[in-house]
Amino acid sequence: MIHTILSGMRPSGDLHIGNYLGALKNWVALQNSGQYRSYFMIADLHAMSEKFDPRKLPERVKSLAIDYLACGLDPDKSTIFIQSHIWEQPYLNWIFATLIPIAELERMHQFKEKASEYQHINAGLFTYPILQAADILIYKADTVPVGEDQVQHVELTRVIAKKFNNAFGMTFPEPQALLTPTPRVMSLTEPASKMSKSKGEKNYIALSDEPETIRKKIRSAVTDTQIKGEMSPGVKNLFTLLEAFTSNRKIYTDLLTSCTAGTLKYQDLKETLAEEIIKTLAPIQEKRANLEAHPEQLAEILAAGTEAARKVASATFQEVRAKTGLQ
Ligand code: TRP
Repeated sequence: MIHTILSGMRPSGDLHIGNYLGALKNWVALQNSGQYRSYFMIADLHAMSEKFDPRKLPERVKSLAIDYLACGLDPDKSTIFIQSHIWEQPYLNWIFATLIPIAELERMHQFKEKASEYQHINAGLFTYPILQAADILIYKADTVPVGEDQVQHVELTRVIAKKFNNAFGMTFPEPQALLTPTPRVMSLTEPASKMSKSKGEKNYIALSDEPETIRKKIRSAVTDTQIKGEMSPGVKNLFTLLEAFTSNRKIYTDLLTSCTAGTLKYQDLKETLAEEIIKTLAPIQEKRANLEAHPEQLAEILAAGTEAARKVASATFQEVRAKTGLQ
């Protein structure tokens, strides 16, 4: 049986190398394995559950689509589309909302975390995982490659699928999260916490950073919060990054050996790492520049993705309408 994958990201600004290693690189590998029918979407409706600038949204959606393609998602192998273009998804969201008890949503970690940050919590933030379930189930995806933080949402998707199937007859698969082993990429300035855009420019490397910027950021990465006899979290993070970015494993093991021996100069580690990151990002940046220069090409790819996605989504939706007695 051919499995179906669906995943997505919110268009909330520049991607960084943590997003690349944690998600996109895996998506591309899964797509290229030939074992899946794959859907990758830009979750613009989900982006609206938090403060956003409507003037910036179109650019951000475009930019994320370019990132998907530049990193290797291929419209000949995957369906790449914008969530809000498929109106059946928010429609299915409503039907699912009538099935799921509030208590299930109140348990969601991501909601609890976000709710504690905001004074006014909008209902969309609360019902966010229902829409996510609609995203997944409308394509009958059974495999959802996501990070640890989204596992609970996939579990909720399973609960929703089960409830729907019980109430209206077998319709949806019960999808599984696919956690591919990925390095946890930490902040360059506060290596005890995850790399994140919210911690300021210097803590992350954007996929679009120029070589000189990358060198500068890596050079100023924190290495010195040394714990006796152990690699400090900052140094450990640089090694994690080096392992992920170098295609020559010997470069990594040699530096690691000298670190263990106590002879490593952090400057050498940093210089090597910066060059390896630059080397990996160069073709991605070139592809990005190319796509930016040909907006009609991007529009065409997204239009074709929308059309392909809509076909599947509307078929599922007709099935749901019939089963739930909607006229
Ligand atoms: N909630 C996901 C995130 O924040 C993005 C997302 C939206 C998603 N819909 C999805 C991921 C469906 C997987 C499947 O990362």
